[in-house]
Amino acid sequence: MDNAADQNVEANPEEFYRSPTTTPEADPWALALEDIDLATGSIFQAQKHHEYFKRLRQENPVHYHDKNPEIGPYWSLTRYEDIMAVDSDFERFSSEPSIALYDEVLGEERAPMFIAMDPPKHNEQRGAVTPAVGPVRLKDLDKLIRERTVEVLDELPVGTPFNWVDKVSIELTTRMLATLFDFPFEDRRKLTYWSEVITTPPILMGLTIEERLNHLGECLQTFTSLFHERKFEGNESQDFISLLANNPATADMNGVELLGNLMLLIVGGNDTTRNSMSAGVMFMHDNPAEFQKVKDNEALIPSAVSEIIRYQTPLSYMRRTAKEDVEIGGKQIKKGDKIAMWYASGNRDESFFEDADKFIIDRANVRRHMAFGFGIHRCMGNRVAEAQLRIVWEEILKRFERLEVVGEPERVEHSFVHGIKDMQVIAHPRQ
Ligand code: HEM
Repeated sequence: MDNAADQNVEANPEEFYRSPTTTPEADPWALALEDIDLATGSIFQAQKHHEYFKRLRQENPVHYHDKNPEIGPYWSLTRYEDIMAVDSDFERFSSEPSIALYDEVLGEERAPMFIAMDPPKHNEQRGAVTPAVGPVRLKDLDKLIRERTVEVLDELPVGTPFNWVDKVSIELTTRMLATLFDFPFEDRRKLTYWSEVITTPPILMGLTIEERLNHLGECLQTFTSLFHERKFEGNESQDFISLLANNPATADMNGVELLGNLMLLIVGGNDTTRNSMSAGVMFMHDNPAEFQKVKDNEALIPSAVSEIIRYQTPLSYMRRTAKEDVEIGGKQIKKGDKIAMWYASGNRDESFFEDADKFIIDRANVRRHMAFGFGIHRCMGNRVAEAQLRIVWEEILKRFERLEVVGEPERVEHSFVHGIKDMQVIAHPRQ
């Protein structure tokens, strides 16, 4: 965090909550159970969250915390089976009003978006944009993804450290996002910036709340113009904006609803794939024997991609709200209670994944990770994300003997987006 942001934290302490108990320094095994507050970005940044989750899976798998003044009381599900059961049951567990534990972001109302809607509206809006990432479109995208990957990898400096996050992960996911939106290519980094503005507390970006709102306003204005330009009979383009503008379920959305769905599509396709792309390099560096397996047998790449996504789990949780009184794991959950489904914990559940804490690219049930969720909200872009990651690894193997991570990567302080900001890498070309 830079100085300006530090000062902001001091000036507005209530806007940036850090649990007094659940800290990177605390012993996760010694804290009183009721003092464990998983919605604390600093434990993810310090990679201490796994120990907290391990303890809860063992001692208190359906956990209750009611001391977070910003979120209020909430339940945490930490076991694979419980998470899958709740995620698959939209009738009893609602995605409204929000899929994050915070109901409001710094005093703003949340913009409506279909990830935070229940049927029937959810299905209608999701159905409108699905063709942009459906199997037919994916065939065309494959070639484009490869061309861009080749371009970006061929321009990398060799033998000298560079930030992989910026030069590769952000660049490739932003190019893809620009394609999915058919957004002016030269302005594509705006998408990255807006995504950051949406997901990061302004104090961490050195922004005031007003400045944040101004950026969101610019985002809305830009997209509203594109939305109206592309609203015409006979427009069969498959980009997100044309699809939204011409489907009866979404064509008449008001400004806030358009902004909400844009935020969803920008963030959904951006941070998640980006962080998997960075994390994969780190995991392969830390586990050279696993990297050797892929080098020896490229047919293992799709399996390695799934393992990377499981091991990183780019979105740590999704929230649901109980629509009726219900019992889970012997605990009485009341109608209206908030429930966090911690995918980050389910993906390390030892009763489901053997040696869950190890990175094993050819594990038997590798595709059964829960990082894409389950049920009616299961990630809409999973195939695009997998294609991007598969192709990047195919092209890495063609060019590089190995990618060496130098120093400690700088991580994001966030309990929802599990990410890496800066990771210095030296690329060693193949001889
Ligand atoms: C939903 C993860 C990539 C668009 C979700 C959900 C998760 C997720 C956990 C919620 C699932 C649930 O509630 O059951 C990921 C991960 C990705 C990724 C880990 C990459 C590794 C993408 C991409 C796009 C995308 C590339 C778009 C281009 C969406 C959308 C939803 C969604 C629109 C909402 C679906 C709905 O509510 O019906 N994603 N995502 N995601 N994702 Fe992804």
